[in-house]
Amino acid sequence: MEPYRALPSSTEPNGITTPDYLFRSIDEVAKRLKPETPVQCIFPEAVRSQARKFIELFPGKVLYAVKCNPGQDMLRHMYATGIRHFDVASLEEARQVKSLFKDAKLHFMHPVKSRESIRRAYRMGIRDFSLDSAAEIMKLMEETKSARDLRLFIRLAVAGNSAAYDLSGKFGAAPSTAVDLLRHARKVAVKVGICFHVGSQCMDPAAYTAAIGRALDVATKAKVKVDVLDVGGGFPAIYPNMTPPPLESFMDAIKQAAQPFVDQGAELWCEPGRAMVAAAASMLVRVNLRKGRRLYINDGTYGSLFDAGALGWRFPVRLVRPQKGGKGNTHKFANARPPSEKTVPFMFYGPTCDNLDKMKGPFVLPEDTQEGDWIEIGMLGAYGSTMQTRFNGFHSEFVATVWPEAAPFAFERVRKKPSLPLAEADPAVQQASPMGRVAAPQSIGRGPSEQTSQNLHASGDGRSPPLSAK
Ligand SMILES: Cc1ncc(COP(=O)(O)O)c(C=O)c1O
Repeated sequence: MEPYRALPSSTEPNGITTPDYLFRSIDEVAKRLKPETPVQCIFPEAVRSQARKFIELFPGKVLYAVKCNPGQDMLRHMYATGIRHFDVASLEEARQVKSLFKDAKLHFMHPVKSRESIRRAYRMGIRDFSLDSAAEIMKLMEETKSARDLRLFIRLAVAGNSAAYDLSGKFGAAPSTAVDLLRHARKVAVKVGICFHVGSQCMDPAAYTAAIGRALDVATKAKVKVDVLDVGGGFPAIYPNMTPPPLESFMDAIKQAAQPFVDQGAELWCEPGRAMVAAAASMLVRVNLRKGRRLYINDGTYGSLFDAGALGWRFPVRLVRPQKGGKGNTHKFANARPPSEKTVPFMFYGPTCDNLDKMKGPFVLPEDTQEGDWIEIGMLGAYGSTMQTRFNGFHSEFVATVWPEAAPFAFERVRKKPSLPLAEADPAVQQASPMGRVAAPQSIGRGPSEQTSQNLHASGDGRSPPLSAK
């Protein structure tokens, strides 16, 4: 297990050099760091409880879809909860996971890969590859020198119209092609599977029923015994205006529809991304200017708010306006008055000069929201910070962890004993260690410390403060 790495202190906001913080709340992040750039605030308990839920409810293997949030801490929390399988879309993701967890099982589920990626992935020990064309099978065979230990997954085209984000336009073999591919794969691979994606933020369990039915037709027509049925991602999170049925109803639909596969000895897999981590992070952004009902903030469509800009999704928002610096903190905040009780709708504009960098919302906030205020934008653990570009020079890698005081391993990371081996600061290691070592409240505001962490961390009540979902 690799120890946490420290960020170079010069890259931290406001010249704070201590790399490892624990915060009690997002308000405390604003108060202590006064961040000029967006900060991803993560809630480990939210990741862990969702991961546990998937492990408990899904009748098979749970692969975390790394693309959704490849943050080192997110991955560590997954691992700490027992997730060992990771769906990777690229060699870079594969390397990222492997550098953290030597025993991680990687599955390369992108149906179109470069030859170099196939070659290097195979050398790394990856044997599971998805595909939706005969040409990709050829590439896989050539680049692995016709390896006899490949496990090949045929990505089947399925309907995406029950999902808020339809993924059916790019990948997936039509059923007749899938029949041929399955037969072909059966001849060259040690194991074969069928996989699909019903679209992200799928709102209807019946979409899985239909997709599994189609997979069964394909397997039956091909007369091929399928070793794995992979139902993909697509499981929904709860956003404003999007309240899906409970996860249990998706699981029930899958179990029922997949029974014929199970009866023939097939394993079931799923690859959740969004539903695992959406609720596990908020972005803390700052208002740089107000023009009427338009707020110019420091994050946008080319940053963590792609879905808010390009897709017009609404996210829950909450004003964060620290009232005073607090004990030992003499900083005077720009806006000292308590926020007005009246709320009004706002639009957001991002930091770049591009016209598309705007988010129509509406985002309902106190009427007197103004320059210098911070805003917590919730439900951004999935496809949030990972979508960031460096367009116009804007980019932020700051992460603050808001963690419950009851999680002992969290506190262990703010080590009071410098002699503690670094590996012990790792949550995955801590999970195996005896509970109950609750450390004293925090080291916030200290000078440079001996700890190492890639991120800024915090202690807290473990949850985001309530967000004003509209
Ligand atoms: C192959 C694959 N698996 C899993 C996922 C994760 O999907 P979601 O975040 O909707 O659960 C994606 C998302 O694009 C994907 O392409």
